[in-house]
Amino acid sequence: MAGEQEQPPWKKTYFFKPNYVLPVIMEKHNIETKVKNFEVRDDDVFLVTFPKAGTNWTLEIIDAIQHIENIDILKERSLMEKVPLIELGPSTHPDLTSEGFTGIPSNVDAYLNVTSSPRRIPTHLLPEDCPTQMLVKKPKTILVDRNPKDCLISLYNWHLSVALLEPTTWEDIFAKYMKGHTIYGDYCEFTKKWSKYKNEPWLLWIRYEDMKKDHKGSVRKIAEFMGKSLTDAQLDEVCRVTHFLYMKKANETIKGRETLLRPEGVWQRKGVSGGWKNTFTVAQSEMFDRDYDEKMKGYEHLKYKF
Ligand code: A3P
Repeated sequence: MAGEQEQPPWKKTYFFKPNYVLPVIMEKHNIETKVKNFEVRDDDVFLVTFPKAGTNWTLEIIDAIQHIENIDILKERSLMEKVPLIELGPSTHPDLTSEGFTGIPSNVDAYLNVTSSPRRIPTHLLPEDCPTQMLVKKPKTILVDRNPKDCLISLYNWHLSVALLEPTTWEDIFAKYMKGHTIYGDYCEFTKKWSKYKNEPWLLWIRYEDMKKDHKGSVRKIAEFMGKSLTDAQLDEVCRVTHFLYMKKANETIKGRETLLRPEGVWQRKGVSGGWKNTFTVAQSEMFDRDYDEKMKGYEHLKYKF
């Protein structure tokens, strides 16, 4: 059984709680104090995702909607600024400094100093680890769900791409996922816990797959949820700058790329639904399905059909 005494599964990770692994760039004390007590504003917009569900994409859509009158400012942001998870930093962990990171700043502190509004705040945390006020004040919150098999494939490639995580093999990460030892824990737990709020008016629950199928319709839905009414031309403009290929090209030369990503690393990797079929073996897929069916009992309405 996993416990806090157990060795973390990779360098640069630790057990935040039993069976729940976080990278060392997410500092336990910071999450339990500053993030937990973070003062939420009524007009904040939160984005909740399981890792690799399309956080960067959705945040870019939110930003493009918000800055539609001055969309070029999005180009000025560095890669780290593109997905500023509230739980990230501060960290001067030796595993990071030995690899040349000079220290990761605290995002929660940065959010406290943001004077413009609305602030848009992404997180991968479970509801119980989010700011207490979030579930009291109920600011607008967008949750993006994605086929967990595709999330796992994407996470595997993320380990190969990002300098803050240790490279792994597909077999190894699959085995760790089955034990609940990939970063941010178990997808099913994340989905089930957040589903408690799925029908609340303050939460918009969307699927990556639906965003892929109907990009413009999804942008419209997100904009309406944010209280912004965009013209047809503006919707097209948001779609243009958040198209997979546009974002892929922009991220190739973005500021801060060399800090976050390995030279061969990519964020806009494939951007497709169902790509897991190229990597899972039949045996792995069946093992995954059994585990998924078992964990999602009683939550059939949230399940993906593989
Ligand atoms: P793949 O690795 O399957 O390609 P996150 O931002 O949460 O880390 O999610 C990363 C995943 O979202 C990656 O999936 C990435 O390619 C995909 N993604 C990023 N930008 C996208 C876009 N504009 N359209 C579609 N998918 C995108």
